[in-house]
Amino acid sequence: MLTRETVQEILQPLRDPETGKSLMELQRIRDIVVKESTVRLSVIYSSEDVRASLEAQIREILEAMGAEDIHIRMRPLDSNAGGPARAKEPSNEDKLTKGHAAGMEDNTLLSEQSGIHFIAVASGKGGVGKSTVTVNLAAALARQGKKVGLIDADIYGFSVPDMMGIEEGPTVTEDGVIIPVERFGVKVMSMGFFIRENSPVIWRGPMLGKMLRQFFSDVAWGELDYMLLDLPPGTGDVALDVHQMIPQSKEIIVTTPHATAAFVAARAGAMALQTDHEILGVVENMSYYVCAHGGEKDYVFGRGGGGKLAETLHTELLAQLPLGGPDNHPSEPDFSPSVYKSGTESAVIYDEVARRITSKLEDNNERK
Ligand SMILES: Nc1ncnc2c1ncn2[C@@H]1O[C@H](COP(=O)(O)OP(=O)(O)OP(=O)(O)O)[C@@H](O)[C@H]1O
Ligand SMILES: [Mg+2]
Repeated sequence: MLTRETVQEILQPLRDPETGKSLMELQRIRDIVVKESTVRLSVIYSSEDVRASLEAQIREILEAMGAEDIHIRMRPLDSNAGGPARAKEPSNEDKLTKGHAAGMEDNTLLSEQSGIHFIAVASGKGGVGKSTVTVNLAAALARQGKKVGLIDADIYGFSVPDMMGIEEGPTVTEDGVIIPVERFGVKVMSMGFFIRENSPVIWRGPMLGKMLRQFFSDVAWGELDYMLLDLPPGTGDVALDVHQMIPQSKEIIVTTPHATAAFVAARAGAMALQTDHEILGVVENMSYYVCAHGGEKDYVFGRGGGGKLAETLHTELLAQLPLGGPDNHPSEPDFSPSVYKSGTESAVIYDEVARRITSKLEDNNERK
C-alpha cells in the first residue's frame, strides 16, 4: 500500500551531498501526493551536478515501492528565494490526503465512542496458536451474529489470509478506500494482502507500524461489534505499538500447557497490565490429545500451564483446546486450513469462549 507517509519514510535516508542532512528534513522534497500507484512530488536540487542522479535515484526507489506513475518536478535551490525553510501553507497535497479516505472521519474506529470491543490476542512465545485462536474466535463471534473485524497485526509473519483460505485481495475504491475481504462472516485485513508473493519484507518496523495505522483509518470496516487483533509473538515494538495505538483494547493471552511456555506468556501478560489493558482471560491451546481408541485424553505437553498463568495474571482460564487441526478438505468451496467447522469439538469450545467474552464485555457495558 503506497501512501504519502510511506513515501516520506522511504525517502528519508536521502542526503544532501554538501551538508549530509536528510533532504526530507531540509524540506527539499515537498508536495508529495500519492493516489493509488501515482506519486507526485517536487524536489529542490542544490546544483546541476546532482540534478540528474537525484531524480533517477528517487524514481528508482519509488518504482521499487510499486509506484507506476511517477511525476517529479525538479527545481533549483537558487530560485527558492527565502531559503528552504519557508513556512508551509496547506497545499493540495494536504487536501488530497485528507480526502483520501472519503466519507470517513479520521480514526472514528479508534475513538471511544465507536463502541467497538477491541480484543488483542497475544502470547509470549511464537507458534503457540495465537493466529489459530484469533481466526476461530472471530468466526465463533460471527456465528453468534456479531459484526466482527480482524486485523492481522503480525506484520512480518502475517498468516491470517492463508489460515482462513482467503485467495482474493481487498478492493480499493476510486477514492482510495479499502474494502476488507469477508470470510466466514469476518472482515479481514492483513499486510499479506499488500505484499506480493515471494517478495521479501524489506520495509523497516516503523514504516510497517504506519501501515498498520492505516488499517484503522483507510479501511471501510462498516459497523462493527468486535475487532480482533492477531499480534506478533512476544513483547516487541509492534506489540507495544498496538498497545499504545488502542488503549481501550482488552487482551487474551494464548499459551500451551507447558510450564515454560506459560512462564514466557506471563511476560506478554505483564506488558498488557503495564499498558493498562485488561486481560479477558487465558486460552490454553494444544492442551491434550484425544486418543482415537477409547477417547481418553493424553496430556502430551504436560498439564496446568494455562491455569497457573491465569492465576498469576488474576484472570480466568477461558478454554483448553485439544490438539488436532480441522478436518477440512481443499476440494470444499469454503476450504480453510485453520478454521474449525461449526459443530466440531474445537468449534464448540470456541463458541463457549465467544459466549464468555460477549457476556463479560456486553454485561460490563450495561452496568456502566
Ligand atoms: N490445537 C492445535 N492442534 C494442532 N495444531 C495446532 C493447534 N493450534 C495451532 N496449531 C498449529 O500450530 C502452528 C502454529 O499455530 P499458529 O500459527 O496459530 O501460532 P502463532 O502463535 O500464531 O504462531 P506465530 O508466532 O508464528 O504467529 C500452525 O501450524 C497451526 O496450524
Ligand atoms: Mg501467528
